Amino acid sequence: MLPLTLTIQGGVDKDGTPDAVNEIEIARGEIIGIVGPTGSGKSTLIADIEQFAYADTPSGRRILINGLVPDQELRSDPRKKLVAQLSQNMHFLADMQVGEFLRMHAKSRGKDPGLAEKVIELANTLTGEPIDPHHQLTILSGGQSRALMAADIAVISDSPIVLIDEIENAGIKKQEALRLLSGEGKIVVVVTHDPMLALMASRRVVMKNGGMTRILSTSEEEHRIFKDIERVDGWLTSLRETIRQGEVVA
Ligand SMILES: Nc1ncnc2c1ncn2[C@@H]1O[C@H](COP(=O)(O)OP(=O)(O)O)[C@@H](O)[C@H]1O
Ligand SMILES: [Mg+2]
Repeated sequence: MLPLTLTIQGGVDKDGTPDAVNEIEIARGEIIGIVGPTGSGKSTLIADIEQFAYADTPSGRRILINGLVPDQELRSDPRKKLVAQLSQNMHFLADMQVGEFLRMHAKSRGKDPGLAEKVIELANTLTGEPIDPHHQLTILSGGQSRALMAADIAVISDSPIVLIDEIENAGIKKQEALRLLSGEGKIVVVVTHDPMLALMASRRVVMKNGGMTRILSTSEEEHRIFKDIERVDGWLTSLRETIRQGEVVA
C-alpha cells in the first residue's frame, strides 16, 4: 500500500475571513469528523476535497496529495480515482443483478470478478437485511445499498479517500462500516452529528459560517464515552432484533 496523505489548506469563510484552521494533514487509516450546524459549510468542505479544490472554489481552499497538487491524470482517470463518496441517497440506476454488477465493476477496475462474492459477504455484515447476489439492484433498501457501496469501496475500488456526508438514518452498522474502511488503510472523512461516529474519529473539524474554526482531538474521556455509547448501541440493536423476531424482551 502506497503511503498517502491528504492536506487541506485553509481558505476563507462566507465573509472572506481566513479559516482559523490553516492546515490539516490526514494520514491513511485516519477517520476525521466534520461537525457544525446546518449551513455551516460541511458539505462545501467535502466538495472541496472531492474536486481537489485549488483556490478555484468559493472557499479558496487547496487540497494536496502527498504534499503536492494532484496532477490532471489523478483527477480524471477513473482507475486512479483517489476519492470515493458514500452518499445518503444511493440510487443504482442499472437494472442488473447485484452479483453481475459487482463482477462488472471488478473487471472495470482490472480486478478479479470473483471479488464480487467477498463484497456481498462483507456487505451482509453491515446490514441486518441480507443481500443475495441474485437480487436486482433496484429493489435494494437504502441500508442494503449503502452497505453494498461501503463493502465495494473497501474491496474493489482502490480509492484511498472516502467521503461520507451525513449517513444518519443509514440502516447500516455505521461504526462497523467506518472501521472497515479505515482498517483498509483508507482516509475516511465523515460529516456527522452522531456522537458514536464523531467520537470514533481521532479528530473533528468544527465548521462555522463556512469556515474551519477549530480542530478537536478526541480526548481520553471522549474515548471512554465512545465505548459506553457503543455498548448501548449494541444493546439497542439486539433489542430491535428481538422485537423484529416477534419475541419478548427479557
Ligand atoms: N467558505 C465558503 N465560502 C463561501 N460560501 C460558502 C462557504 N462555505 C459554505 N458556503 C455556502 O454556504 C451554504 C451552506 O453550505 P453547506 O456546505 O451546504 O453547509 P452544510 O453542509 O453544513 O449544511 C452553501 O450555499 C455554500 O455554497
Ligand atoms: Mg450538508
